Order: sequence, then C-alpha cells, then structure tokens
Amino acid sequence: MTVGGAPVAVVTGGARRLGRHLCEVLAARGYRVVIVYRSSASEAASLCAELAAQGHVARSIQADISVRADVEQLFSDVASHEGRVDLLLNNVGNYNPQDVTRLDPDVWDATIASNLSGAYYCCYHALRLLPDGGQIISIGMAGLEGIRANRRGADYYVSKTGLLVITRALAAGYADRQIRVNMVSPGQLDNSIDLPPPDEIGREVPIGRAGTMRDISQAVEYLLDAPYVTGVNIDVSGGYRL
Ligand SMILES: NC(=O)c1ccc[n+]([C@@H]2O[C@H](COP(=O)([O-])OP(=O)(O)OC[C@H]3O[C@@H](n4cnc5c(N)ncnc54)[C@H](OP(=O)(O)O)[C@@H]3O)[C@@H](O)[C@H]2O)c1
Repeated sequence: MTVGGAPVAVVTGGARRLGRHLCEVLAARGYRVVIVYRSSASEAASLCAELAAQGHVARSIQADISVRADVEQLFSDVASHEGRVDLLLNNVGNYNPQDVTRLDPDVWDATIASNLSGAYYCCYHALRLLPDGGQIISIGMAGLEGIRANRRGADYYVSKTGLLVITRALAAGYADRQIRVNMVSPGQLDNSIDLPPPDEIGREVPIGRAGTMRDISQAVEYLLDAPYVTGVNIDVSGGYRL
C-alpha cells in the first residue's frame, strides 16, 4: 500500500465508540494508527495498550480539532514521528440536538467548529503529508442528499452536509494525484443517543434494525480497496429516511 513501511492512519475521535472500532480495524489491516482524542485520555491509553498487545503499532495525540493551532501541532507531530499520512479518517461528529426554534448560537458555533471546520483543518494539514494514492474518509450522516427538514439538530445536519460538499470538492481537486476523498454515513447506530425502541425503528429504518459499528467499518474497508471510487458518500443505514 505504501513505499517504506506500514501505512499511517490518523483517526479523529479515535479513543471511543465508532472511532475506537475503526482504529482496531485499521490496525488489524496493518496500519500504524494515530489516535486523536480530546478528553478521553484513559480510553486512548487503553486502546494503545490493547493494540500493542496484539502486535500493532499505535499512539495517541491529544488535540481539540476545532482549534486551528491544535491541528497544526497535531500534524507537525505526525510529520516528525510518522513522516506521512496514508489515510485521514475524520470521525469526529458531535450531536447535541436542539429544536431549531431554540437552537443556541453557542451550540451552533461548537458543532460547526468541531464537525466541519475541524474536519477541514485536518484535511488541509493531512493533504500536505498524503502521498499520491492516499485517502481521506469522513464519517457523515445518512440521508443528507435530500436535505430534508430536521427540526432537531439543524447544526449537526448543516455540518455533515458541508462535510459532503468539501469531500466532493477535495475529491475533484486531488484526483490527478490519485488521492481519493470519500464519505461513509451511518443512520441510526445501535449506540445512538436517539435510538427508538426496537418495535418503532422500522418507521425510520426500512431494514428494521439499528446499524452496528461493523456495518460502518465494512464500508470503510471497501473504500480502502476501491481505487476507482472517489467523491462519493455511501449511506450505510438500512435505508434510513429513504
Ligand atoms: N452513533 C450514531 O448513531 C451515529 C449516527 C450517524 C452518524 N454518526 C457519526 O459517526 C461518528 C462517530 O459517532 P460516535 O457516536 O461514535 O461519536 P461520539 O461518541 O459522539 O464522538 C466521538 C469522539 O469525538 C471526539 N471529539 C469531539 N469533538 C472533538 C474535538 N473538537 N476535537 C477532538 N476530538 C473531538 C470525542 O473525543 P473525546 O472523548 O476524547 O473528547 C469523542 O470521543 C460521528 O461523526 C457521528 O456524527 C454516528
């Protein structure tokens, strides 16, 4: 996959939940994993220990990706230690749903700063370290393309739709270097804070069940091995809000 040693993956929000699972999958595929966390230091340390015990190479870095200086420092650290980034996985995505009639501007600013601006800062710096053939995969939210009205979480949906726009733009901009930029979008995962009861999930999810983290990592793994796929969003959502 790369010249000169194991490929390097940088995973934001990598210490817990979906990000942690994706780090485990990438490590098992032979990536050196850089786990980016903001406040979950002990979870990041336990993941590093878990991966090391399995013979994988991983380390963690603390950064608040909504802060430009933190992201600059993060990638400068990666440039010094790993020397390259083969895959950036933008997994951070804060969801703090409020009704749009009461959407606090502070919540708006925080969501856009972490989910959209932060992801862009990471893309900007990672692209300076990505070799030809490198990749960016961002985690989105299914059902964006119709731009449905969602009374709850408008800030979140704006951030994820914006991420899709920048995904497509970067895919077009870097295709001449065979750098691929894509998105994988869950719908309702089985760890969602918004999960309806099992007998009601079919109203929003035609397949009739919540998604698992493995459903999402399958799509990520597909993209890792798909050299002719760029600029796409894959909804992995059981048909969420079709
Ligand atoms: N779970 C679902 O049902 C679902 C559905 C659709 C889409 N998604 C998307 O899937 C992705 C993962 O979801 P999740 O539920 O596993 O995520 P999560 O638990 O809400 O957040 C993942 C991590 O993001 C980190 N983070 C947040 N803001 C950050 C910042 N400014 N700088 C650095 N790290 C930051 C946090 O790290 P620390 O803990 O270190 O602070 C957190 O552990 C997100 O993009 C989400 O939008 C999830």
